[in-house]
Amino acid sequence: MTEVVQVELGARSYEVRVGDGELARVGRVVASLPGVTSVVVVTDTGVPEAYPAAVSASLGEAGFEPRTVAIPSGEEHKTLATCSEVYDRVLSTSPALDRHSVLVAVGGGVVGDVGGFVSATVLRGVRFVQVPTTLLAAVDASVGGKTGVDHVAGKNLIGAFHQPAGVVMDVATLRTLPLAEFRSGLAECVKHAMIADESLLEFLEQRSGEIAAIEPTTMVELVARNVQIKAGVVSADERESGIRAHLNFGHTVGHAIETSSGYGSLTHGQAVALGMRVNCRLAQRRGLIGGEVLDRLDGVLTCMGLELRRAGLQPADLWEIMLHDKKTRAGRVTVILPRGIGEVSIVSDVQADEMARALSVLE
Ligand SMILES: NC(=O)c1ccc[n+]([C@@H]2O[C@H](COP(=O)([O-])OP(=O)(O)OC[C@H]3O[C@@H](n4cnc5c(N)ncnc54)[C@H](O)[C@@H]3O)[C@@H](O)[C@H]2O)c1
Ligand SMILES: [Zn+2]
Repeated sequence: MTEVVQVELGARSYEVRVGDGELARVGRVVASLPGVTSVVVVTDTGVPEAYPAAVSASLGEAGFEPRTVAIPSGEEHKTLATCSEVYDRVLSTSPALDRHSVLVAVGGGVVGDVGGFVSATVLRGVRFVQVPTTLLAAVDASVGGKTGVDHVAGKNLIGAFHQPAGVVMDVATLRTLPLAEFRSGLAECVKHAMIADESLLEFLEQRSGEIAAIEPTTMVELVARNVQIKAGVVSADERESGIRAHLNFGHTVGHAIETSSGYGSLTHGQAVALGMRVNCRLAQRRGLIGGEVLDRLDGVLTCMGLELRRAGLQPADLWEIMLHDKKTRAGRVTVILPRGIGEVSIVSDVQADEMARALSVLE
């Protein structure tokens, strides 16, 4: 079974294919793009070699002779220095990239962001195809056209909007993913359900066994439904001037927890799960929702194997980090609050003491 989701963006529209065994189709997808001269596969050293190899074989069958560039794995390598090495490889070694070449990014969100940024900038932009191999990249990072790298001053501070020409997701790749990374992606699925789709929440609740077993048809449906939600939001607001911000549900608090804990001590998705709980408590204290929303969120997070609490958090430290968040303007911390399941709104008047009280839900 293969699902195809269309991302509607006028002339920049593209298809996201989700299926079991899709790595073997990447060649056909690239060959369907007009006038492709050459192909470069970008991956990282943590992605099992079989995946870029399968993509290269598929490209070979489609008549291309792809080159592969493997960057070192890990967020610490999502830098301009890494991009610079990729530029060197694709521009200085023969055959050099040209304006009609295609870059294929095979890996998680780091490869997608670096590969996407290189393709946005090299020769003022070449086409790229995303082949996400983590759940987080499949349901979130590979769709929407945000590309970029980190700076010492903060994450994702250098980047460009550059939509892919296509996305190909093979759910079979999820079988080798470490459990914590898999759960991190599931947290973003819960986020999508909470902001936009109660029936997705029901799906997560009812199919948690098949999801934990990475059952292929269940995973195809799960990924496709999430891509559909993200695609809908991105189509409505490509440059994040309005509702795209809803995708940040749980992220202001989540980022603060990630930063204060030191990156790597908990996954991004786990931090977002905690952030969503804090936002539910905030909304509850404001009388926007009843206690049943947090109860239901807690139930589904537990089914997905995510933690509900975290010891040792310091509200004052977290608040300080939130004040310096990229999304904070004029000292006003912005959060996304639930109004029910599948509905949220943007709120910019949260105060430090109110946040501290809501954070106690994590104790
Ligand atoms: N552009 C966007 O819209 C967007 C959205 C969300 C997140 N992101 C970015 O995505 C990044 C996080 O992505 P991620 O969670 O995929 O992390 P990641 O890319 O670092 O991948 C996690 C680890 O898993 C390895 N890996 C990848 N696929 C594998 C597989 N199938 N089996 C085993 N190991 C595998 C990788 O080599 C890496 O070591 C962050 O940098 C974040 O900023 C971007
Ligand atoms: Zn996220």
